[in-house]
Parts: sequence; C-alpha cells; structure tokens
Amino acid sequence: MKLDAAAVWCLSLMLGCMAGIAFAADTPPVATDPHAAVFAESNFPSASACASCHQKVFSEWSASNHAYASISPMFHKFEQAVNDLTSGTIGH
Ligand code: HEC
Repeated sequence: MKLDAAAVWCLSLMLGCMAGIAFAADTPPVATDPHAAVFAESNFPSASACASCHQKVFSEWSASNHAYASISPMFHKFEQAVNDLTSGTIGH
C-alpha cells in the first residue's frame, strides 16, 4: 500500500494524540506532587524553600550570577532601557 503525504501527516497526528493521551494517563495525581506543600504556602516561594530537597542545585545556583540577576542594578537598567525602547510592549 502506498501512502501519500496527507495520509502520513494524518497518521502522525493520530499517533501523536494517542501518545499524548497515554502520557496524560500516566501523570501522577496532584496529591503525589512533592511540590504541593511548598506551593500551598506561596505561589512565589523563596528559592530557599527548594533547598531542603534540591541542596546541590541550590548551592550551585546561589553562588552564580543568575542568583543576583533580579537584584542587579545593571539588570534593571538594561530592562528599563528595553522597556523604554519598546514603549513597554514586552509584557510590562
Ligand atoms: C519536598 C521536597 C521538594 C521540595 C521542597 C522541592 N522539590 Fe522540586 N522536586 C522534588 C522531587 C522529589 C522531584 C522529582 C519529581 C519527579 O521526578 O516526579 C522534583 C523535581 C523538580 C523539578 C524537575 C526536575 C527535572 O529534572 O525534571 C524541578 C524543576 C523542581 N523540582 C524545582 C523545584 C523548585 C523551583 C522548588 C522550590 C520552589 C522545589 N523544586 C522544591 C522534591 C522537592
């Protein structure tokens, strides 16, 4: 049997949907999410709330430039410049 491009595309779409449904069925219920307690306390938890379980990643991150990005005067100056250049059309 020879399949044309449309049939192959349609078959791929069907298989993709079936895989998506199978994945959704395997997703554990929210009650088993190890993060439920952290996010029950706050929608924007401090990074230190993550450290108890993710100590290595927290240690690496806390000494990185990324940890200081949101308190960096340079970061805010660049962000302000982009905001000014785009007339605030980047989501602010
Ligand atoms: C109570 C322990 C606990 C706390 C606190 C916790 N986590 Fe997790 N986290 C886990 C566990 C266990 C997994 C693995 C879950 C899985 O694979 O289903 C995980 C997985 C993750 C993943 C996915 C990693 C991957 O490779 O897929 C991310 C991202 C993550 N956590 C971020 C955070 C952040 C951000 C915080 C703080 C706001 C946090 N976690 C706090 C236990 C915790």
